[in-house]
Amino acid sequence: MTDAADDRRFGPGAHLLVTGGAGFIGSCFVREVLGRDDGTRITVLDNLTYAGNEANLRPVIDDPGQAARFRFVRGDIADPAAVRPLAAEADAILNFAAESHVDRSILDPEAFLRTGVIGVHVLLDACRAEAAALAAGERRTPAGDPRPAPRYLQVSTDEVYGSVEAGRSVESDALAPRSPYAAAKAAGELLVRSYSVTYGIDAVVTRGSNTFGPYHHPEKLIPLFITNALEDRPLPLYGDGLQQRDWLFVTDHAGAIEHVLRHGLSGEAYNIPGSAEMTNREIVRLLLAALDKPWSLVRTVADRPGHDRRYALDGSKLAALGWHNRVAFADGLRLTVDWFRSNETWWRAIKSGDWDTYYERQYGRRLAGSTPAGSEPGRPAS
Ligand code: NAD
Ligand code: TYD
Repeated sequence: MTDAADDRRFGPGAHLLVTGGAGFIGSCFVREVLGRDDGTRITVLDNLTYAGNEANLRPVIDDPGQAARFRFVRGDIADPAAVRPLAAEADAILNFAAESHVDRSILDPEAFLRTGVIGVHVLLDACRAEAAALAAGERRTPAGDPRPAPRYLQVSTDEVYGSVEAGRSVESDALAPRSPYAAAKAAGELLVRSYSVTYGIDAVVTRGSNTFGPYHHPEKLIPLFITNALEDRPLPLYGDGLQQRDWLFVTDHAGAIEHVLRHGLSGEAYNIPGSAEMTNREIVRLLLAALDKPWSLVRTVADRPGHDRRYALDGSKLAALGWHNRVAFADGLRLTVDWFRSNETWWRAIKSGDWDTYYERQYGRRLAGSTPAGSEPGRPAS
């Protein structure tokens, strides 16, 4: 149900449980919401996988006003003992937690299923237990009034639609995932829908587009290519590089999630499109231009197996709910490049330790067999 009362329930003074809040998009959500200083409280539950990073929450921890409304709990969303007490305190649960990298899902799918399926099930069961507590008169505000069970928001992805050769995906389209990552995300969504229908859990789903911005883990295309280029290392472009993605700036992704939390209709899914659809070759050209680095760094390497050619989302449903992206793509890209230039300590810490093992496994043979990446987009072959 969505009405003005819901808006108040998730507005100033609300207590949000943000799972996966030490990752890229979750930490942006936490920084944005607490930075507004409107009384909202946040508990982050995160088990700090290789992708989780407490440094992403430093701006919050270092600000006494924000730190007073923030709590970090290290734990696994697939562990009911960690989840249950936190769900009891929450007005809403926003689940950002996931294994999020397609290439790693191809190398090792298991963790994707544990977090994406069992983890989602545990979170939904906690919501169900809170609904039962409310019905038994045991879930109350400090003033003793009945306190609604938490609303559940599942952060999902455009990748659940699979590769979209033409047109744009609408929310009623069939889910047709093609990588273990996308399959785990689709499975999580199906569980959410089943709990919404069967148990009447108040739940919404967002399907965001490819996201970029500060604090983006350097395993992903944009931060990998920025940081490699800053070090004059080769940029491994998969296949012909003509795959298309629609890029969404991270504060817009976080803002749209909050908008759906407050205004989304229970049981519904909402696409969150980006504001710049382009080929990988084109985005790499723009990155290199922003960094003043040569196209000759780009190497064509063996393609990702099952590589989705194109994602494209129709955003009418979210627009009808009143959300519009605020950050123009060019501004977002400039901000991102500047951030990585000025935050070398952050990304060098990640590109150390186990990073080399991953990099060798993912790119060693690819780079050994690589070839020059042809001519730069928009320039004739030399
Ligand atoms: P990320 O990999 O940067 O962060 C994931 C976070 O989840 C990490 O902090 C990690 O420690 C935590 N985590 C993983 N498994 C956990 C578990 N079992 N228990 C507790 N915490 C756990 O990911 P991201 O890019 O910030 O993506 C966040 C969400 O958004 C994911 O659900 C992803 O599927 C979705 N999404 C991402 C994009 C994108 O382009 N990055 C686009 C659309 C949707
Ligand atoms: P990525 O950032 O992994 O996001 P996703 O797979 O979720 O879209 O990749 C974005 C695009 O860039 C995708 O088409 C794969 C491609 N890519 C490369 O060409 N080289 C790389 O090293 C990486 C990581 C991605």
